[in-house]
Amino acid sequence: MAILFKNIKELLQVRNEPVQFVSGKEMAILPTIKNAFLLVENGLIADFGSMNSCPKGAFKEVIDCTGKMLMPTWCDSHTHLVYAGNRESEFVDRIKGLTYEEIATKGGGILNSAKTLQNTSEDELYNQSKVRLEEIISLGTGAVEIKSGYGLTKESELKMLRVIKKLNENYPIEIKATFLGAHALPKSYQNTTSYIDYVINEILPIVSQENLAQFIDVFCETGYFSINDTERLLKAGKQYGLIPKIHVNQFTAIGGVQVGVKYNALSVDHLEEMRVEDINALKNTKTMPVALPGCSFFLSIPYTPARTMIDEGLPLALATDYNPGSSPSGNMNFAVSSACVKMKITPEEAINAATINGAYAMGLQNKVGSITKGKMANLIVTKPINSYGFIPYAFGENKVEKVYLKGVEVSNEGFL
Ligand code: NIG
Ligand code: FE
Repeated sequence: MAILFKNIKELLQVRNEPVQFVSGKEMAILPTIKNAFLLVENGLIADFGSMNSCPKGAFKEVIDCTGKMLMPTWCDSHTHLVYAGNRESEFVDRIKGLTYEEIATKGGGILNSAKTLQNTSEDELYNQSKVRLEEIISLGTGAVEIKSGYGLTKESELKMLRVIKKLNENYPIEIKATFLGAHALPKSYQNTTSYIDYVINEILPIVSQENLAQFIDVFCETGYFSINDTERLLKAGKQYGLIPKIHVNQFTAIGGVQVGVKYNALSVDHLEEMRVEDINALKNTKTMPVALPGCSFFLSIPYTPARTMIDEGLPLALATDYNPGSSPSGNMNFAVSSACVKMKITPEEAINAATINGAYAMGLQNKVGSITKGKMANLIVTKPINSYGFIPYAFGENKVEKVYLKGVEVSNEGFL
């Protein structure tokens, strides 16, 4: 039996013809229907349109959305939300003047999280992570990518990926898993070459055998993994059918964007430091640039030059980078808001970046990210708001009233 949403003040991100992603000038267009209805059947979007053509008859449930917006849930294409403990003390160290790099050199940073995770059981890791997953769902996220990368040993990387798999089995949100074995160099290794050997020869085959990840990632950055390390890993990943989605240009521009494009990365993420040649390398490719404004905010580093990139004709996706070190928030509403304020992109561009383009950056564009017949009924009903611009405008507030995943309303209390 169908569920009818009626009297929707404005139905956002309506795409009659499915699109893969939007780029350049198209990003400024957010197609909507005012005074609309939407019909859900079997967890999918069955129909939608103007209230003038609203279907009549018997429904399992009729939801009156007077004064409220209805839109597809956020698509968060870059997170590390499976982690153990927290790094609040490093946050305070940074407030007192240390940089992210200085903290990492002192044995903090990713290695600090890895130590905690290695000493945390799989069950405990699951319990800590599910709290964050439930939290982001209640904030309107309906599809999320989650990375490993705080294990850094075979055992602990697999532990992380199994937790991601279990979350995927137990929650109605769409989850994609990324193997990020090359996130930092463990202390027990002299150099990245020998660690990359270990990742390729010892971990990757099991990740593939147990079907634990769809994507492969690497922190391609000065002081972490080089261009050569990145190439080796992406090549090996390709042999196992893993598609690259990589961390590049966060602190320094060393050619990571070009490597991503060369290996047909689905996305290149961070991009706080972009040279003209990096922007040019992304033109007319299928690689989605992903900006992570929460990370720029939290670390006080530059924001991705999204305005220039869109003006140059590129697409853009927005994600949270939810992780304990550089962005301890998975709130996509804040990502959208801070992107508007700090990157000077419009609400239309930001909403496109956080829905359809985010879906593309996870390979989920045919399932989520727009109001299109046949797509999953992963929906946000907002609180009564003046216009959709209020979502970024009212920064720090939560304008999400209800979240539906596969047509079923979810609430924190409802989770097991
Ligand atoms: O995306 N840059 C690499 N990885 C994470 C941060 C990891 C951490 O500090 O724990 C990021 O910012
Ligand atoms: Fe990240």
